[in-house]
Amino acid sequence: MVKSIGPKKIRTAVFISGTGSNLENLIKFSLKKNSPIQIDLIVSNKKKAEGLKYAKLYKIKKKIYNYDKKKNSEKKTLKDLRLNDIKLVCLAGFMKILSRNFIKKFKGKILNIHPSLLPKYKGLKTHERVIRNKEKYSGCTVHLVSSRLDSGKIIIQKKIKLFKRETPSSLKKRVLKHEHILYPKAISKVFANL
Ligand code: GRF
Repeated sequence: MVKSIGPKKIRTAVFISGTGSNLENLIKFSLKKNSPIQIDLIVSNKKKAEGLKYAKLYKIKKKIYNYDKKKNSEKKTLKDLRLNDIKLVCLAGFMKILSRNFIKKFKGKILNIHPSLLPKYKGLKTHERVIRNKEKYSGCTVHLVSSRLDSGKIIIQKKIKLFKRETPSSLKKRVLKHEHILYPKAISKVFANL
């Protein structure tokens, strides 16, 4: 567990499925003195998720549930959240859609980051679709999670201009850099008045 110095920080869980660059970035942010959060739990639906290495590296508890049987996995996850006194969930590349019931139980306390200017380009293959449609701009969004995919109140967005020879992979890289700035900003914004 990451110990905090100074005022009490918000106990946070981060849910991942893959690389976990946003996870590592949030961990680094949480270790800053002025950060309102501390990361106490990492949840993954993939036991081979690369991002799980950060659990070991930063000595954070991890839980893995495959989410194929969603109801069962969500039940176990909710129990973990309760046992660890988690007050905030940050989805960071978590590729499963949480049920209405789960979201209701954690209402207003689940954030997600999405690599597009929502409400445009919800869902997968965002960068491919943006380029195919010859968009001039794209970006990323942090929003509260509601029971509809990539919907819910938008907290903050970053808009970037596409290069002439942009490819899905160059755009992904560029957007990801901005995601790493945006997610901590969004968290600070949400908890600024606490
Ligand atoms: C990010 O682009 C995020 O916006 C999307 O999935 C990707 C996760 O990347 N939801 P990483 O695992 O944090 O590196």
